[in-house]
Amino acid sequence: MKKPIKWVKKGPRGTFLPSDDLKKKAWVTNASIYKKALKNPVAFWGKLAREGLDWFKKWKKTYEWKPPYFKWFIGGKLNACYNALDRHVESWRRNKVAIIWIPEPVNEECRILTYYDLYREVNKFANVLKKLGVKKGDRVGIYLPMIPEVQMAMLACARIGAIHSVVFSAFSGQSLNQRMNDVEAKVLVTADGYYRKGKTINLKTNADIGVKGTKIKHVVVVKRMGNDVKMVKGRDHWWHELMKNAKLYYKPEIMNSEDTLFILYTSGTTGKPKGIIHATGGYLTQAYWTTKWDFDIHDEDLFWCTADVGWITGHTYGCYGPLLIGATMIHYEGAPNYPECDRWWEIIENHGVTIFYTAPTAIRMFMQWGNEWPKKHDLSSIRILGTVGEPIDNDAWMWYFKHIGGGRCPVIDTWWQTETGGTLINALPGIGPFIPTVAGRGFPGTKNDILDESGKPVPVGEGGYLVMKNPFPPGMLRGVFKNPKRYKKTYWSVYGDKYYYTSDGARFWDKTGNIRLTGRVDDVLKVAGHRLSTAEVEDALNKHDAVIECAVVGSPHKIKGEVPVAFVITTGRKPSDVLKKELVKQVEKVIGPTARPGEIIFVEDLPKTRSGKIMRRILKNLMTDQTLGNITTLSNPESIEKLKKIVGYKGSG
Ligand code: WTA
Repeated sequence: MKKPIKWVKKGPRGTFLPSDDLKKKAWVTNASIYKKALKNPVAFWGKLAREGLDWFKKWKKTYEWKPPYFKWFIGGKLNACYNALDRHVESWRRNKVAIIWIPEPVNEECRILTYYDLYREVNKFANVLKKLGVKKGDRVGIYLPMIPEVQMAMLACARIGAIHSVVFSAFSGQSLNQRMNDVEAKVLVTADGYYRKGKTINLKTNADIGVKGTKIKHVVVVKRMGNDVKMVKGRDHWWHELMKNAKLYYKPEIMNSEDTLFILYTSGTTGKPKGIIHATGGYLTQAYWTTKWDFDIHDEDLFWCTADVGWITGHTYGCYGPLLIGATMIHYEGAPNYPECDRWWEIIENHGVTIFYTAPTAIRMFMQWGNEWPKKHDLSSIRILGTVGEPIDNDAWMWYFKHIGGGRCPVIDTWWQTETGGTLINALPGIGPFIPTVAGRGFPGTKNDILDESGKPVPVGEGGYLVMKNPFPPGMLRGVFKNPKRYKKTYWSVYGDKYYYTSDGARFWDKTGNIRLTGRVDDVLKVAGHRLSTAEVEDALNKHDAVIECAVVGSPHKIKGEVPVAFVITTGRKPSDVLKKELVKQVEKVIGPTARPGEIIFVEDLPKTRSGKIMRRILKNLMTDQTLGNITTLSNPESIEKLKKIVGYKGSG
């Protein structure tokens, strides 16, 4: 074996710095970029947009801010699909591999799609969508597993100027239904089924529930499994049949920079998920440059982002970003531990993955499975590691660094949100420093701060709330679909409309602006990296006849980070293990298995304020043995003593 290159060296205070080899290779190596970009962020992003993307027409105005709204590249015209495919097909990258798709079953062949292959399929599917009556601005639902048709469908929408709204395939039919109703989709693209740890999941059954009562006229079904499905005549069509006769070219629609590229639903603090709107030019600009610079991807690299395309990470780093820069990526269909706990490491070894991006929850899972699994494989092809989705603790960071990166590779901890479209806070490979548990600095050209309750910036080391400042990065959301009030209230009201409020706690690690993220400060949970609100789980439980009232809080979990724990008051039925199981099933049915409560705790009473509001904070403190604070203002302080016994509270009250 060739001696692997060391991409990092030790720095001061337990940090790591890029090695000379990495500095020689990296796109960005001079820290002066931060200062330079901040001199004129608007001009900086304008330059990036010009250099990164192909525009049919240049914009008239780079940035406009009318609180709480902002726009980028106004008057500019482009097409996302053209930028992801056509321009590569017109270059030497025409026959470069875009996607290596790896099926879950080990005896099945990989699908290798070059840029030209993808281009041809996307063009055909664009024509299919057109034939089904999809027009510019119409919404198309995509409910697909991790098969290449998911990128094809997204890009085909972008090509014809339709707005895609992807729903994670492990969400339930009811979750799909809620989102399809809100987004008023005309067409749904789904599959017959998919593999999960060797088993077949019948996706079409869920899709049928999802379509009920919506405006969806046509359902296109990819045949992945060949399992039995019911096709509704006139409504349901097989993907392969429609594609057979589809024309080979569709001229990309000319879109405005501010036209919506997609709407992706995410959880907020209420039971109803919100449709986050992303605009074409700004989103693509941030996707392009963050992909290229954060992960230092070059043409010879092989990039693997393990996130499902149903989440924002999969949108930006499993579809748009890598394709925009003409990279080659891995797209794996299945579970990380199928057939064995080394499937991911085997894939890295077999294909020679050079840049690997995953979530802390996955890292913790692998830690638990044992060091012997990665040890079985030659992981020396890896150059850069990334994480996303939740704060990464020191142990997980060090394990990832040592056992996956061989102590040679930087770990790029990227902080961002569905709302921000692309990463916003992380170290850059050629600059560093790489600091365990510290994400890093704001991406060049972005401005953040950490404020206390009163809105004053906090000194280094003190905790506060992370905000973004004007000019707001181009990839950030342009609104909440059909709900401008919610947009304003959630993001622009805590500190007024000059600050984008992230709902994340944070502190500065040093004077240069390196930031440690400490987690959400609202009722949003990150369960195994998946974003979920406590209210959604409560709504699901309340739909069960035996539940009269309930409260859900997040409880720390060794591997998943957090799990929902439900406090339930029953009616008509006595608490029992059977009922517990029913309630867990109920949540799976209404939301999906990701939302499965870790614990159901039956109680007689819930702590409430005099105005009747359930005090979830007290429940959370009870669960985690923290000080309860002032409980005298409760309408029922006596409930606390009982609850302490039930949860075995060891705190000091
Ligand atoms: C959390 C995922 C700490 C954060 C891209 C944020 C993180 C929420 C990190 C958004 C990180 C994401 N360190 N926390 N590197 N990355 N988060 O919308 O709380 O699924 O607000 O987007 O994840 O989750 P979302």
